Amino acid sequence: MGFRSIVVVFQLLVSVALAALNASAPAISIPSSQVWDGDDGQWSTFYLQVGTPAQTVRLLPGTSASAGTAIWVVIPVGCSQVNPTLQNCAGERGELFQSNLSSTWSTQGLVNNADGAIYSLNTVEEAGLGLSGNGSYGYDTVTLGIPGSDLPTLHDQLVVGIWTDDFFLGSLGLSPYSLNLSSLNGPQQSLMGSLVNQSLLPSNSWGYTAGAVYKDPPIFGSLTLGGYDTTRYNPNGLTVSFANDEFRDLLVSLKSITYDTIGSAPLLGEEINIAINSMVSEIWLPVDVCNAFQDAFNLTFNEQGQLYLISEQAHRALKAQNPKFTFTLGQAGGINNGSVDIVLPYAAFDLNLTAPIVGNDTRYFPIKRSDNATTYTLGRTFLQEAYVIADYDRKNFTVAQALFPPASISENIESIIAPDLQEPKKSSSGLSGGAIAGIVVGVVAGVAIIAVGLFFWWRRSRKARSAKQGNTVPQKAVEVDSDTTEVHELGGPRPPAPKAELGGQPVVPGRHEMEYQPKFHELDNPEIPAAELEGTTPVRDQK
Ligand SMILES: *[C@@H]1O[C@H](CO)[C@@H](O)[C@H](O)[C@H]1NC(C)=O
Ligand SMILES: *[C@@H]1O[C@H](CO)[C@@H](O)[C@H](O)[C@H]1NC(C)=O
Ligand SMILES: *[C@@H]1O[C@H](CO)[C@@H](O)[C@H](O)[C@H]1NC(C)=O
Ligand SMILES: *[C@@H]1O[C@H](CO)[C@@H](O)[C@H](O)[C@H]1NC(C)=O
Ligand SMILES: *[C@@H]1O[C@H](CO)[C@@H](O)[C@H](O)[C@H]1NC(C)=O
Ligand SMILES: *[C@@H]1O[C@H](CO)[C@@H](O)[C@H](O)[C@H]1NC(C)=O
Ligand SMILES: *[C@@H]1O[C@H](CO)[C@@H](O)[C@H](O)[C@H]1NC(C)=O
Ligand SMILES: *[C@@H]1O[C@H](CO)[C@@H](O)[C@H](O)[C@H]1NC(C)=O
Ligand SMILES: *[C@@H]1O[C@H](CO)[C@@H](O)[C@H](O)[C@H]1NC(C)=O
Ligand SMILES: *[C@@H]1O[C@H](CO)[C@@H](O)[C@H](O)[C@H]1NC(C)=O
Ligand SMILES: *[C@@H]1O[C@H](CO)[C@@H](O)[C@H](O)[C@H]1NC(C)=O
Repeated sequence: MGFRSIVVVFQLLVSVALAALNASAPAISIPSSQVWDGDDGQWSTFYLQVGTPAQTVRLLPGTSASAGTAIWVVIPVGCSQVNPTLQNCAGERGELFQSNLSSTWSTQGLVNNADGAIYSLNTVEEAGLGLSGNGSYGYDTVTLGIPGSDLPTLHDQLVVGIWTDDFFLGSLGLSPYSLNLSSLNGPQQSLMGSLVNQSLLPSNSWGYTAGAVYKDPPIFGSLTLGGYDTTRYNPNGLTVSFANDEFRDLLVSLKSITYDTIGSAPLLGEEINIAINSMVSEIWLPVDVCNAFQDAFNLTFNEQGQLYLISEQAHRALKAQNPKFTFTLGQAGGINNGSVDIVLPYAAFDLNLTAPIVGNDTRYFPIKRSDNATTYTLGRTFLQEAYVIADYDRKNFTVAQALFPPASISENIESIIAPDLQEPKKSSSGLSGGAIAGIVVGVVAGVAIIAVGLFFWWRRSRKARSAKQGNTVPQKAVEVDSDTTEVHELGGPRPPAPKAELGGQPVVPGRHEMEYQPKFHELDNPEIPAAELEGTTPVRDQK
């Protein structure tokens, strides 16, 4: 028995003692990058360091249950192949990750080809909105925040290199579910899954609001893992239970959309079920609701881009009228359990399309027509004014009006403790608090005595041995097989594909990315629940 074994035994005993003492890691607040990014609005991003040495990228939080199971980073082909003429492309896309510069990048266990381990993105929800892509999958070391933030580092975390313009910025996936990557590797823990697994978070939960560039001064987004920031929302007591559909778990009932012009008819009068998803920019609504917006505010529908533009004239009229839109939400599934109002000013909808979507900045109104009830979505536009707290252990969430405190008010982070940490199993004999305290003290004392005993025993046996080796604690080596350190270059230079036609009109928005299609693999059974919460029963409830 060497020093290492003693350390391991001691750590085990300490963790038992800590569990007995009801201690859990606190929630983690991730500071915003203080940069506004995006090509369809100005969105508040967050820093992540990837690889060794660390490469710092800016990502958008991804609340999607499926697509949010992995970290997505934009890789060089997302500029060189897909947007070869976009100025400052790397900066526009939140900086690029180059896996060939990272000594810890690995594709071990994945199906590789010359272009890397290419699989489809896990866009179970987003594909229904026309957003999809392929990615170059691998594992690498990631650290939250910028260097010096003192936030956790995770090794061998699943990282996906993306290039599609459908997701112009990378994604900091917030899903706690595991992604079943391939039959070779089995389920892969998400960022949150790993943090909880390593006891670096008190629960599978987060609090998020996207931030609002239109406030004076602009207020950046707020992201907390394992808890929430009480200074960023107005509590309202609404608790919504997760939907049975595991891919649209953040489902609410949208009861109405109204605006504050006297005598105006509601824009949405009939209740619909709609999912909250930060990986989508716009708000996807039934066609008749979009028509109501179009008529009320003189929006211009653009067929090619399937989106609503705002002429300068309509914009001036809207600015003068300055309508406030009230979204009334509640529990989905026909259960009347109270409702809350989330109010969005016109400024929240006053967004611009920029390059590479259009040549010149173009105002648009971020609602999208949906003719399929399973695709109604409250995207990031909505999250500018809403704060969401999602608790995956209790399978419930809260939607509240976001607050925009001045910089002088500092954050106030509350942790959400997982139920199994919060309520230690009560024994049937009904021990009193004093008895529990006695046991805890006894355990801690026992741990200390055993540890001290082991230490002296180890010192004696070490002295007895005439070992010549140094007595430093062996560092756990990063496991890198020779066949996983090879450089994965994504295709050599290719002749540029013909740029999509713009139809000769001055401004015709529509995504026109260039093609980059390496050989790829479908994810295993994308239709079948690929996500499973570590240590709990599968979420999907077939009904
Ligand atoms: C890494 O890959 C990029 C393109 O993805 C290439 O430009 C660069 O030369 C490569 N660097 C090394 C050291 O191989
Ligand atoms: C609605 O969308 C879902 C998900 O994208 C799809 O599976 C389904 O076939 C669509 N239904 C109709 C009627 O288009
Ligand atoms: C993924 O790659 C395959 C093979 O190149 C291609 O057929 C498919 O269209 C790609 N998927 C997306 C969403 O680009
Ligand atoms: C993941 O895939 C493996 C092999 O195909 C399968 O045995 C396992 O049940 C899958 N896990 C989940 C959570 O789908
Ligand atoms: C952490 O993950 C490993 C590997 O999946 C698993 O064996 C272990 O039980 C997990 N630990 C906890 C505390 O969930
Ligand atoms: C409705 O609200 C009550 C009290 O807040 C709660 O106990 C109950 O679980 C809620 N029902 C649903 C379906 O969320
Ligand atoms: C709507 O906008 C068009 C031009 O964009 C303008 O000609 C028309 O007068 C506007 N209508 C209303 C009711 O504001
Ligand atoms: C949006 O674009 C318009 C021109 O279409 C421009 O006048 C305006 O300043 C832009 N807004 C932002 C926030 O860049
Ligand atoms: C989830 O439910 C628990 C107890 O039912 C409640 O205390 C908690 O506030 C709810 N969480 C959210 C985010 O609504
Ligand atoms: C454990 O900690 C939580 C949160 O700090 C607290 O609510 C709970 O009562 C504690 N449980 C025990 C048994 O002390
Ligand atoms: C962009 O604006 C400039 C100056 O207003 C104009 O000359 C050019 O044609 C516009 N380009 C497009 C693609 O509309």
